[in-house]
Amino acid sequence: MFEVKQYSGQREKDYELVLQQLKALIEDDTDEISVLANASALLNQFLDEINWVGFYLWKIDELVLGPFQGLPACTRIAYRKGVCGTSLKEKKTMLVPDVNKFPGHIACDAASQSEIVVPMFINDEPYGVLDIDSPILDRFDNLDQTYLEKLVETLMQHLDKILNDA
Ligand code: SME
Repeated sequence: MFEVKQYSGQREKDYELVLQQLKALIEDDTDEISVLANASALLNQFLDEINWVGFYLWKIDELVLGPFQGLPACTRIAYRKGVCGTSLKEKKTMLVPDVNKFPGHIACDAASQSEIVVPMFINDEPYGVLDIDSPILDRFDNLDQTYLEKLVETLMQHLDKILNDA
């Protein structure tokens, strides 16, 4: 059973704990959807001031909604479109302090004011994105970026193993 931890409020220390929690949660899990579902639930109970956290997965030529926590969202995002499509195309994390100023931002939840999107690749092939929205401006900073990229890296290593190891 998942044990809810009391986080300390020291962000770096807490992110390290979440990284360990993620590893423990997924290490024996061989199903892609349950790994991603639990990863979104873990982040949702850890991050404050967010209204959406989840994954869009690359299917043939577009991003398709995957496991998430939050309100129902747009199901498909074309390559290069929105913050998610831009992140995947440019192969870099997008830190958007004010979504209203991001040209082409796709509003799925009217409450969202800032956003971070981390692209996901397996062996240089697009896999999808981790997308997190906040109802406050400028919610995410470089520390969030650093640790969310580490969390994604951990997920990608595990998914590579379960998807590609016969
Ligand atoms: N805002 C995203 C769309 C997905 S929702 O935020 C859940 C974008 O511009 O790509």
